[in-house]
Amino acid sequence: MRADPSPAAWQALPNAPAIGTVVGDRAALGDGQILLCQLPGAGALHGSTPFSLLLLRSGPTITAFANRCAHFGVPLAARQEQLLYQPHQHLQCNVHYARYRWQDGVCDRGDCVGEALIPVPLEIDASGCIRIAASAP
Ligand code: FES
Repeated sequence: MRADPSPAAWQALPNAPAIGTVVGDRAALGDGQILLCQLPGAGALHGSTPFSLLLLRSGPTITAFANRCAHFGVPLAARQEQLLYQPHQHLQCNVHYARYRWQDGVCDRGDCVGEALIPVPLEIDASGCIRIAASAP
């Protein structure tokens, strides 16, 4: 059964960041790269668990998914150097190796085929600053 996350599903995740949270800078994200970001949650207390976000760049397009596998709800990778991906094609979970399409986060191979990563909307200003947006443009 396919489970398409609603556009606001990310906001229901634990420690979801506030809208407007700065995620990074476009210039720091190379074409075909994925960056694992740890963001403070909205109203987060000092020492609380950060929100883990995956930033993907393919040409001029930058997208983001919560770093949360659709199979068991655990991070696809705990650290940047553990990320498994084929630039512009797919990314993969470290645990049971479910594979997700780069462009839309849908699992196309593994234990959760047809389910998807949870997208997080972004906005990028003229200076290249990337922030969490209220909704997808
Ligand atoms: S937890 Fe990610 S594939 Fe099983």
